[in-house]
Amino acid sequence: MTLDIPVADAAPKPAQKTLPDAQTVTAVKHWTDSLFSFRVTRPASLRFRSGEFVMIGLLGDNGKPLLRAYSIASPNWDEELEFYSIKVPDGPLTSKLQHIQPGDEIILRPKPVGTLVLDALLPGKRLWFLATGTGIAPFASLMRDPETYERYEQVIMMHTCRTADELTYGRELVENLKNDPLLGEIYGEDFANRLIYYPTTTREESPRMGRITDNMTSGKVFADLGLPPISPETDRAMVCGSLAFNVDVKAVLEGFGLREGANSEPREFVVEKAFVGDGV
Ligand SMILES: Cc1cc2nc3c(=O)[nH]c(=O)nc-3n(C[C@H](O)[C@H](O)[C@H](O)COP(=O)(O)OP(=O)(O)OC[C@H]3O[C@@H](n4cnc5c(N)ncnc54)[C@H](O)[C@@H]3O)c2cc1C
Ligand SMILES: NC(=O)c1ccc[n+]([C@@H]2O[C@H](COP(=O)([O-])OP(=O)(O)OC[C@H]3O[C@@H](n4cnc5c(N)ncnc54)[C@H](OP(=O)(O)O)[C@@H]3O)[C@@H](O)[C@H]2O)c1
Repeated sequence: MTLDIPVADAAPKPAQKTLPDAQTVTAVKHWTDSLFSFRVTRPASLRFRSGEFVMIGLLGDNGKPLLRAYSIASPNWDEELEFYSIKVPDGPLTSKLQHIQPGDEIILRPKPVGTLVLDALLPGKRLWFLATGTGIAPFASLMRDPETYERYEQVIMMHTCRTADELTYGRELVENLKNDPLLGEIYGEDFANRLIYYPTTTREESPRMGRITDNMTSGKVFADLGLPPISPETDRAMVCGSLAFNVDVKAVLEGFGLREGANSEPREFVVEKAFVGDGV
């Protein structure tokens, strides 16, 4: 006896995507009450330059996509995408996004853009990554991209948060990177000296303290690391933090003689906002 099943019904149905531009969450990690990171599947067609951002989100209560800009925290060779996020208590997106679980879907518009890309800087010897809060996200991507170390002899990651627990995501990332066998194989034991990590807190006692701007203008960071002060001949910088931080650090970098560049006009430093607004 043969079963008379129409071919269309017998064939397995492709999985239904319930959201436009849907990607599936593969992992979520909560770092503090106000910070978490998560990984999602990567669209096969998505190409991006490490340091760029995309629009991601969820469906809002009105059934329309509720999207926000997010820096991609994973490097461009990674088969998944990683994001590092704030939880704003009454934030339209993050009050919901903080509850995502593996298997859930988020919306990801596959159009990466941004100024924090290696192509926007002139060649140099040292590259400074200057971040506050979640502003470390684009540098989490760039620190894991071998091209960063092909272009620059030394990379210095300065990250400042109010409290020590807010530094943990970046600290673990740097530690894992320094012990990465692949990077060790490519760059030798010397790699640990090529990526320098300088975390500071401002409102809690910790081994290193102070604002990035203050530690640069006082010369403390250069003395601590045994490096010469920043100069336009050798040093390049990328900045990502609150508007107030960006404005102040830009003035400090200009004081050292560096000029702001862009994708269309590479110079000595580039800046991007970590968020829009004055603070929660
Ligand atoms: C280019 C760009 C890249 C960004 N990348 C990231 C990222 O990688 N990770 C991330 O968490 N956010 C990032 N943001 C901020 C993000 O777009 C949202 O603002 C954030 O997710 C909060 O969304 P919301 O709808 O909950 O609240 P919103 O209504 O968007 O924000 C409410 C208020 O919360 C504060 N706020 C928002 N985001 C932050 C933040 N990251 N840190 C501190 N205070 C904040 C601001 O005061 C803002 O006015 C980025 C923003 C821009 C412009
Ligand atoms: N209610 C709470 O307990 C609580 C806790 C954390 C955050 N928040 C809110 O969340 C918002 C975002 O917090 P956040 O900690 O991610 O960002 P933030 O307020 O921008 O602070 C992040 C780090 O950047 C430093 N910084 C701020 N402005 C600077 C400038 N102009 N130059 C150099 N360094 C600067 C801060 O130092 P300083 O400490 O010296 O300012 C801090 O170490 C804040 O506006 C805050 O209102 C609330």
